[in-house]
Amino acid sequence: MADSPVTINSPGGQSAPANSEPSPQEQKQMEQAYAQMKRKMAMEEIGRKIKHKIMVLSGKGGVGKSTVSTGLALSLAQQGHRVGILDIDITGPNVPKMMGLDGRRLHVENKRIHPAEGHLGVKVISMAFLLEDEDTPVVWRGPIKLGAIQQFIGDVEWGELDYLIIDFPPGTSDEPLTVAQSLPNIDGMVIVTTPQQVALLDSRKSITFSESLKIPVLGVVENMSGFTVNGTAAPGTSLNIAAPGGKTLTATADDDGRFSVTLDIFKQGGGQATADEFGVPFLGALPFDPGFVRGGDDGVHRIVSEPDGPSAHAFANVVEAIQAQLSDGTDSGLEIV
Ligand SMILES: Nc1ncnc2c1ncn2[C@@H]1O[C@H](COP(=O)(O)OP(=O)(O)OP(=O)(O)O)[C@@H](O)[C@H]1O
Ligand SMILES: [Mg+2]
Repeated sequence: MADSPVTINSPGGQSAPANSEPSPQEQKQMEQAYAQMKRKMAMEEIGRKIKHKIMVLSGKGGVGKSTVSTGLALSLAQQGHRVGILDIDITGPNVPKMMGLDGRRLHVENKRIHPAEGHLGVKVISMAFLLEDEDTPVVWRGPIKLGAIQQFIGDVEWGELDYLIIDFPPGTSDEPLTVAQSLPNIDGMVIVTTPQQVALLDSRKSITFSESLKIPVLGVVENMSGFTVNGTAAPGTSLNIAAPGGKTLTATADDDGRFSVTLDIFKQGGGQATADEFGVPFLGALPFDPGFVRGGDDGVHRIVSEPDGPSAHAFANVVEAIQAQLSDGTDSGLEIV
């Protein structure tokens, strides 16, 4: 019997010969589906190759998310872990600057984006690498921005990592949602707050937001918690120090003539109170340290300029508290329901 051409019913009900060329529109749809499938597979591979993924969020801007993200990454690298930072902030990215990678551009090889290596070998990917120059703000409308984030995540070649820290713009916007939906197995989120009331109210919003993302809250970090003044005076001298809020603090110089006073510039204890109220862990307090501001300007992070200083120690304590929450088979973290 002679071969008769096979026909396939198209959705419109018309039949088309199986060997006919796809239309340009069909071709485009196929290409899009293929690209989407490849990206999904890449996401799954990223999910497998990166042991822990931690999101850093805050309800309010300027509370120190990027300082905390970079500090956590460097502190983990100090422990000998393989670490990466993903900086999702398209509009005001400053992670590269803090990591000594100012002015860096994307490195693409075989259609894969390769992270830059910052201090202590931490791998950094930032939306800032897409900017033509740092003074030009990126104005991307919502869907374009979110599409770019998805593509970005899927196209990065991280290799094997122990930790990926993800830094976000402030607020409970679409970015964390997009990342949470794209990247599998996110361990949880760290909420950064300062001790002021308004920042605390906003961090409560972040905690509630975690419910909708179905991502556990690893805990709350209180940043800019207190400013420690160290000085010297004759041993045994008693000093009165004028502190914020009209308070007077007293200190006595020890036998070596040293004294130390901590000023609560923005009050204190609010992070702990928020954590208690929501039943999530308090991960610790980070001091107010002008070295963070200098580090942001000159590109040498405080943990790098003073690896054994009080701020580095405070970060190490926070890292330890986070690790205690991670799902290494012992603790699955806490999820608010
Ligand atoms: N513990 C700290 N002590 C002193 N200065 C700090 C501390 N943490 C952050 N800063 C300073 O506060 C400013 C804001 O910090 P950072 O950029 O990390 O905040 P952010 O929450 O990421 O901001 P944004 O919401 O714009 O992304 C920076 O100048 C930074 O150097
Ligand atoms: Mg930031």
